[in-house]
Amino acid sequence: MTAVLIDCDPGIDDALALALAVASPELEVRAVTCVAGNRPVAVTAVNARRLLDLFGRPDIPVYAGGARPLLYPEPRTNLVHGEDGLGGVVLGRDARPVAAEHAADALAHLLLSPSGADLTVVAMGPLTNLALAEIRHPGLLARARGIHIMGGAVHCPGNVTPAAEFNFWADPAAAHVVMTAGARLNVFPLDVTGQAAMTPAWLAGLAARPAKSARALAAMLAVYGAQDPLLHDACPVAALLRPRLFSGAAGRLEVEWRPGPEEGRSRLHPDGEATAMINTGLDTDGLLSLMAERLASLP
Ligand code: RIB
Ligand code: CA
Repeated sequence: MTAVLIDCDPGIDDALALALAVASPELEVRAVTCVAGNRPVAVTAVNARRLLDLFGRPDIPVYAGGARPLLYPEPRTNLVHGEDGLGGVVLGRDARPVAAEHAADALAHLLLSPSGADLTVVAMGPLTNLALAEIRHPGLLARARGIHIMGGAVHCPGNVTPAAEFNFWADPAAAHVVMTAGARLNVFPLDVTGQAAMTPAWLAGLAARPAKSARALAAMLAVYGAQDPLLHDACPVAALLRPRLFSGAAGRLEVEWRPGPEEGRSRLHPDGEATAMINTGLDTDGLLSLMAERLASLP
């Protein structure tokens, strides 16, 4: 059993990643922390609460965290996932409240606890919460068993500027703090998530399932797919379940944190010690069949 904390900004591909995680018995999801990203943190946190309730996991605590990037006064959001962050798909009655503790404090408490060394952090939004926790507790992230990150674009263009992928662009300074924290990083940039495209047949298979979760996910993905068919955030979760679906190499990954047209760019530094595993290869069919298999078990 792998203990995980998922830090996210739901977000429709985040919703799919959460579904995959809670539907997989190999994973113990200890907490979900939320951050401003696709939508403001008040939206992403309620979305995470609603999604976990839909997936039959009201027991998993949800924490709201960073409302803005480290260096900027306002959050950097997008409308790819719709105003409500879930493609307008209504998930039933009003959401229950999220936990009172700040996400960065919840992350720190889990990593500082005696079982903190067993925890894998899976980050699939801007890295504000991880950076805040590391700044408050230097050396914190290095305590984790591993940190899986969806973010960056190394040998391919960005998806929000030519230089940068959205998660690293939305809080470049936070990405820099995490990249330089000395943690065991396993990074899933657009180089690999750009291969994680859902197919119409796969989506139709999900939509045909009778369960409420599958139908809601299919409806969200239909909206999302019109703009971005790539299941970015499923990758760092799937790698915990079937690591052989992925391939890559270690390298020293740096993020341009200084304001300007290059901010958020991730690049490999030619010298020095490797700081991360950078994934570039994916068995797309294997990923899609893993998700179809696991999502079938959701209520
Ligand atoms: O660039 C893709 C990433 O940005 C995904 O995590 C998506 O949810 C958005 O947060
Ligand atoms: Ca995300």
